Amino acid sequence: HASTHISALPQEVLVRLFRYLGPEDLCRCSQVCRTWAEVVKTGSLWRHLYPVRWARGDYYRGPPGEPDQDPDEDWVQNLQEEGRAYQEWDEDADVDESEEACEDSLAISAVHKEKKLLNGMIQNLLPEVGSSVRTLSLAYSAAVSSKMVRQILSLCPNLIHLDLTQTDVTDSAFESWAELGACRTLEHLDLSGCEKITDYTLKNLTLGLGDLTTPRFSKNSPDCKNKLLKTPPSAIKLLDQHSRYSLGRARTALVFKWRPGGRSMSCSPVWVLDPVELADIEDAADWARRGGLAAGNSEGHSSILGVQVQTGGRSCCCRRSMKRSFRTDIGSAYLQQLYGTLGEMQCGHSACCGSDATLRTVKGAQCEPQATGGSTELWTKCPSEGKTRTEQSGACRALRFLSLSGCYQITDFGLRCLSQGGGLPLLEHLNLSGCLFITEVGLHELVSVCPSLKDEHFYYCDNINGPHADKASGCQNLQCGFRVCCRSGE
Ligand code: FES
Repeated sequence: HASTHISALPQEVLVRLFRYLGPEDLCRCSQVCRTWAEVVKTGSLWRHLYPVRWARGDYYRGPPGEPDQDPDEDWVQNLQEEGRAYQEWDEDADVDESEEACEDSLAISAVHKEKKLLNGMIQNLLPEVGSSVRTLSLAYSAAVSSKMVRQILSLCPNLIHLDLTQTDVTDSAFESWAELGACRTLEHLDLSGCEKITDYTLKNLTLGLGDLTTPRFSKNSPDCKNKLLKTPPSAIKLLDQHSRYSLGRARTALVFKWRPGGRSMSCSPVWVLDPVELADIEDAADWARRGGLAAGNSEGHSSILGVQVQTGGRSCCCRRSMKRSFRTDIGSAYLQQLYGTLGEMQCGHSACCGSDATLRTVKGAQCEPQATGGSTELWTKCPSEGKTRTEQSGACRALRFLSLSGCYQITDFGLRCLSQGGGLPLLEHLNLSGCLFITEVGLHELVSVCPSLKDEHFYYCDNINGPHADKASGCQNLQCGFRVCCRSGE
């Protein structure tokens, strides 16, 4: 019998094997050879990121738990103590951030490790796989800064779940959302205990979620009907020889033919695929965009999460934009337009790729609408509804969970911002405990555009006679020692 060496395995098989590994093992694999280093940068291997846990040796990388599941109290307390120790050490240690300086304390070294890991992710991993990231949890991180969050959000335009509980972030962390539709896939946002957040963040959030009140097309438009797809979309051309297997399955999965064009009323074709099949296709397109996986193609490889930084090959447009400092509304739009014109948009990040094809995977009721200016895309349908949300409008405003508990600077103005653009039709859980400056007027305004809100998951100050006062759950911060509450200490 002829034996097959592991190096002869096709990339699809390698990726399947790598799916059984945790982030630490993937990093080791990335240092074996250039081919493996490229395969490790496959997006589907990095869907869910938990750097705070990883820095402490817990290498979980599955989907997040239930929103109402409380984290382990001891674990949270440990993290808070580590954070305090690190802050004291950081204030005392002027310039000396060497390994030796923090070896003395396990707590300090854990936060130090977390900081290095975050920097490694931002520099090496996310520019490659950012568009595939769905979950990011930085809850209780003492190492994360607003600048880091800003960079991460800019590199991960398709986030669904973002947890920044009890971090020190400010409004500037969310600047990349100040663009219509910049975070339209977001379903879960936890900013509990982020005391520096103000209405400005909510203003950016509502912009980023998109606008439901501007229908982009009418299904009966003759223009649209005339553009029904007759031939396979050009997106398929992206897939190279590595992905023929996936492509074959994509063709058989074709079930739906058209979608609205971008922000204009023009139409472009769409293919709707079974979400289960899409991961492979996304991966294949990922590889194709990176110019294939032949060993000779790679000029160098880096340890994904950090330590070695030898960048080789083509850099992603997101990385290029990082070098130009971070985006402003107008600057970003201009850069996107410019890159689109120059044909440089090849990273596949949905927020920045305004042309060519983008491949994405959707699960559950997440509908992944995308304004892409007449591009051809592969889409999945909403299993729960049997059709894409884009049949109704270009935006989704998919937010289901929002916690601003302890964000005491929020006012009615912030709530009014959230109620704009069509409100939050899917929002089920809203925590405004400890928001001292909001009033019943602001609450009524917001609740009137949140038809899915569940009373048992609706929390606000007990001193406000707001909507659903008899059934809502009241303030959650009464017994909480570390989050703002107007009645703490009573
Ligand atoms: Fe008023 Fe907690 S904020 S009861």
